Amino acid sequence: MKTISTLAELRQTTPTLRSKGSLALVPTMGALHEGHLTLVRFARQRADHVAVSIFVNPRQFGAGEDLDAYPRQLDRDSRLLIAEGVDLLWAPQPSEVYPEGYATNISVAGVSDGLCGANRPGHFDGVATVVCKLFNQVRPDIAVFGEKDWQQLAVIRRMARDLDFVRPHVDAILGMPIVREEDGLAMSSRNAYLSPDHRARAAALPKAMRDAIAILAEGGGVERPLGNLRETLHVAGFDSVDYAEIRDADSLAPLDRDNGNARLFVAARIGGTRLIDNMPLAV
Ligand code: PAF
Repeated sequence: MKTISTLAELRQTTPTLRSKGSLALVPTMGALHEGHLTLVRFARQRADHVAVSIFVNPRQFGAGEDLDAYPRQLDRDSRLLIAEGVDLLWAPQPSEVYPEGYATNISVAGVSDGLCGANRPGHFDGVATVVCKLFNQVRPDIAVFGEKDWQQLAVIRRMARDLDFVRPHVDAILGMPIVREEDGLAMSSRNAYLSPDHRARAAALPKAMRDAIAILAEGGGVERPLGNLRETLHVAGFDSVDYAEIRDADSLAPLDRDNGNARLFVAARIGGTRLIDNMPLAV
């Protein structure tokens, strides 16, 4: 695996890779876990070469968020990627991505609003901006993202569609289902922040979501199941629930009952850590 940290070197390397076959990009912020490695394995099945980017993007962290604390483990991550047969690791410094005088922001209206967009103002502008840059830098044929960040994927696809992206084309921006721990908790780099006690309690989140979906399947509106979910998380020791909403899976429009294409989206905080998850209503 070739590790590259400057744009100059990247521009010399990617054309060679692309001339020998297709190229997939898996964008990450590092602190890799099994969920990321699943994305890498999927990318390997779909393309001749796989590039992974590791960049903790300052523009997607708000004031008071965990930018400084975000786990940075490049040596460990590199070893994991070598074992997966990754061809290229793109690991730039912030000054390489946002050089002196950098002034451009990409803002995707609509799908960025509500859910995490409401709780993390500017977050999706930061995501859209950096992903646009990563796509332009690496110019992959396909890109693979995890569906845990469902709203992020919707924002990236909207951007690619609206701005006529060619590499990758919007249809080549692929989502992979959430990878879960044995107790159902969605894998996330932020799970590492949880104390053993909070980690054990965190399993209440996917369980409460499944219970809410079961109640919804009986018919009726969203108020009772979502009220139960909030109460269950409170009893389990969660500090707060940022949101618990049913939305259309594609447009992310809020719904007050299942429309046949609905998902449950939840963000909740436990022991200072913010966890997000989403599930389809129809299984
Ligand atoms: O999902 C992530 O890890 C990040 O938001 C991404 C897509 C790599 C952009 O920084």
